[in-house]
Amino acid sequence: MAVVFATFAPSCKKLGRSPSFMECRVFSRRIFRPLLALALISSAGVFGASQAQAQTANQPATDSMAARVQGCTACHGVHGEGTDNDYFPRLAGKPTDYLYNQLQNFREGWRKYPPMNYLATYLSDEYLHQIATYFSEQRPPYPQPAKSNQSASTLARGQQIVLNGDPSKNIPACAACHGKDLTGMQPAIPDLVGLHSDYISAQVGAWKSGTRHAKAPDCMHEIASRLTDDDVTAVAAWLSTQQAPANPVPAPAGSLKMPLTCGSEPQ
Ligand code: HEC
Ligand code: HEC
Repeated sequence: MAVVFATFAPSCKKLGRSPSFMECRVFSRRIFRPLLALALISSAGVFGASQAQAQTANQPATDSMAARVQGCTACHGVHGEGTDNDYFPRLAGKPTDYLYNQLQNFREGWRKYPPMNYLATYLSDEYLHQIATYFSEQRPPYPQPAKSNQSASTLARGQQIVLNGDPSKNIPACAACHGKDLTGMQPAIPDLVGLHSDYISAQVGAWKSGTRHAKAPDCMHEIASRLTDDDVTAVAAWLSTQQAPANPVPAPAGSLKMPLTCGSEPQ
């Protein structure tokens, strides 16, 4: 645990107000709780060991997916609905291939968050796919949208970028790929509702700074690089205030004409 913390803390101090400033600020504020949760999980042994313990205690072996993903629920909620921690994302209802890609990305170090990297390290593709399928099929209600403390003009800028983009800076509308209701598109584009603004700005910041990667061509890196820090704040703030649509299912594959090619979303 101490090692994990030590490798992260100094790099945060050095960053100052760089593109990953937000990413870093959120991370250091939130690091203790996640690591504590991880310590509890690793002492319980996430999957195999906790089951073995249950058996030795003469309890019935629970081999359901719900039992297997118990180690995930402290941070992601029992049904993947997320928690009130600003940095822990909702998983429920996101397309299976999106979740599967992310679990692989954590395992391969394309996304960096030590508890997630650790948890995915020893899991096979097949197991990761089962977990992804499980969470993609969960349909817990969405949280109430956040009330933002950003100014009206910042929120208006965010709305403008999400729905229409900014042609003067070659920024495509987020809705062009994430859908006009922001519910994502099958098989691998996630929805953007039900996420905290700190989580969204940290992710876009990570793409900008190159600590989060997706399959090439990495369209999100391209787009994040065209956004200023203020744009990222605006977009994240506006998105977090949006009510989830009544029918929050991802659009069918190929139903949106994407303005850029994305390696993780086959056309
Ligand atoms: C200690 C808290 C913690 C635990 C335990 C945890 N996660 Fe995570 N998870 C996170 C955080 C924080 C992120 C976002 C990390 C980042 O990219 O910066 C994340 C990201 C993810 C993502 C990507 C979500 C997205 O929208 O891109 C998936 C999928 C995921 N976790 C699945 C799991 C699964 C499955 C388990 C159990 C095996 C698990 N997590 C356990 C904290 C946790
Ligand atoms: C050309 C299509 C495209 C456009 C336009 C686009 N995205 Fe994305 N976005 C993607 C894809 C594909 C992914 C999944 C990448 C991966 O596999 O990690 C994604 C993922 C994301 C995620 C990760 C969500 C999570 O749960 O971690 C965020 C946040 C995001 N996009 C925000 C935005 C914002 C904000 C905009 C507008 C400024 C935008 N996107 C525009 C294709 C697009």
